[in-house]
Amino acid sequence: MKLTIFSGAIGANVDGIDLSQPLDAKAIDFIKSSWSEHLVLRFRNQRLNDDELARFSKYFGELDPPGPNPYGINFLPDHPEINVISNVKDEGGTPIGNLGDGEAVWHADMTYIDNPPEAGVLYAIEVPAGQGDTHFANMIAAYSELDSELLSRIEGKTLIHDAAHNSAGMLRKGYQEISDVTLTPGARHPIVVTDALGRRALFLGRRPYAYIMGLDVDESDALLDALWKHVSQSKFNWKNEWQKGDVVMWQNRMVLHRRDAFDPAARRIMHRTQIKGLSPIVA
Ligand code: SIN
Repeated sequence: MKLTIFSGAIGANVDGIDLSQPLDAKAIDFIKSSWSEHLVLRFRNQRLNDDELARFSKYFGELDPPGPNPYGINFLPDHPEINVISNVKDEGGTPIGNLGDGEAVWHADMTYIDNPPEAGVLYAIEVPAGQGDTHFANMIAAYSELDSELLSRIEGKTLIHDAAHNSAGMLRKGYQEISDVTLTPGARHPIVVTDALGRRALFLGRRPYAYIMGLDVDESDALLDALWKHVSQSKFNWKNEWQKGDVVMWQNRMVLHRRDAFDPAARRIMHRTQIKGLSPIVA
């Protein structure tokens, strides 16, 4: 196996491994340690069926089924642990997957639950060339470069993470729109978090409908805008220009991701697993 570290703040490419085959302990250890250090790993030219995607993902923990989608559809009844991310509709006009063709704003997955997933694994089955890139940002690096003034304003603060909308801004089935962000439904997590290795990071979830508890709404909005301006700087991120057969895995609690919009007439189909978070987010 060959690891090539990307030039920016996050991510590495792994060559020389076929993820459709069972992996031995040495290969799994290599992936785990590279992943822990670089936070995002990409494997190109893979050919996986859903059983193989699930088997590969389970080397890293128990799988977390997808959260509710706007359509109330279980996209893969034979594999309810796998989510479909797609803009494609079947012959009857029913979406075969989630998130459509629009931009998915910066977010980490399912941070609106108490124990958000540890990780995500995304496999590109069909992708349009040169569109729909996915960007990943390193929140350990973003934390380490916070200025002392911003740091002092967020130390000890807790953020509400919106459960009602997905990252494409669509209302999930079973939720209602709210206008007062202090009433946003969803889990509360510290803004500054520490992982099992003692690394500190920013944990922001997503910007829309977020609220920093205990502050006036205006003050919360201004502080969140300053934080998001900081973390969105290109120096913290890397983007994957998708090719069919790419598998990208990321550490969901330490990494934000977002996806560019793409041509609605193009077809994009991804299958995604998540590794369950077994513990709360800690400050
Ligand atoms: C996601 O936000 O989890 C999906 C990313 C993508 O469609 O590339």
